[in-house]
Amino acid sequence: MIKDIKILAIETSCDETAAAVVVNGREVLSNIISSQIDIHTKFGGVVPEVASRKHIEAIGIVVERALEKADVTLEDIDAVAVTYGPGLVGALLVGVQYAKGLSYGLKKPLIGVNHIEGHISANFIQYKDLEPPFVCLVVSGGHTFVVYMKDYGEFEVLGQTRDDAAGEAFDKVARAIGLGYPGGPKIDKISREGNEEAIAFPRANFHDKDSLDFSFSGIKSAVLNYLNKMNMKGEEINRADIAASFQKAVVDVLVDNAIKACKLKRVDKIAIAGGVASNSHLRESMVKEGDKNGIKVLFPDPILCTDNAAMIGSAAYFEFLKERIAPLELNAIPNLKLGER
Ligand code: KG4
Ligand code: ZN
Repeated sequence: MIKDIKILAIETSCDETAAAVVVNGREVLSNIISSQIDIHTKFGGVVPEVASRKHIEAIGIVVERALEKADVTLEDIDAVAVTYGPGLVGALLVGVQYAKGLSYGLKKPLIGVNHIEGHISANFIQYKDLEPPFVCLVVSGGHTFVVYMKDYGEFEVLGQTRDDAAGEAFDKVARAIGLGYPGGPKIDKISREGNEEAIAFPRANFHDKDSLDFSFSGIKSAVLNYLNKMNMKGEEINRADIAASFQKAVVDVLVDNAIKACKLKRVDKIAIAGGVASNSHLRESMVKEGDKNGIKVLFPDPILCTDNAAMIGSAAYFEFLKERIAPLELNAIPNLKLGER
């Protein structure tokens, strides 16, 4: 009989301190997340220095709770996994140092995980039978990619943002219309009361027509210009209409490129990942277009879309199977690229 592999995973790349215990990359025994959102809200965004300090305060207790909830001890763990990039360097270092300490002390293998690969892996937890190849649209606060996942841990980037990430655009526009941080969920909510056809915000156009790249800074600037114009004319703005029109502009581009990528790779399934994958309009629109084109659309539950450690434990399992064990010199790499090791 093949032994179950239990991985203790740690995630501290941005503003959530998270730990989880995951069996065989698919079964989550615990998934503990300590969010710093309340602290950063006061500043309108994540303050890196504050994030690192809060990770240091929280990490011990978060790991302890993850073990408790999973009803396992450190001795039961087969490997320790940690996000080592991309992310905020000071924040990443807290998790990396902690994981290295545990790995050394317990004499258990250490596995370094790419945060974006973790987001993609959330789909393996949600869909127990999902196997590569498939296309994945990764949309988070820091990243926007459409990738072809050839095999576990093997990626081909088909398109990526040339400027702002999708989530970043949501957050910036939310701030501009006074909705606060984090903006994505707030824009999602208020959009339900707005008219998405009210304002025609532009979609990026590249010279290279076949490009699957994204650009969101133009849409964001168009919203800011619109606000300025209305302000100068002394006219009232309708926040719900602005939010709904902006959201539609972003989602149209995401869906369009995602479907094109599936056709290019001749695959009939697409997984969506990252914080913005929780967006209700993106979910509806992706499913509708997927149905039209015979493509199955997969979404993890919202708790697995935003930053968490279960997704890191899942990605780590497939690294473990490939014997990609990290040395104790493992360092945080803030700009780690997808597929890079
Ligand atoms: O994946 P994530 O938790 O962190 C990063 O790795 O960046 O994503 C956070 C991002 C934020 O920009 C947040 O505004 C966005 O995901 N987000 C959403 C929604 N929920 C979270 N954006 C649009 N609609 C949502 N419902
Ligand atoms: Zn993330």
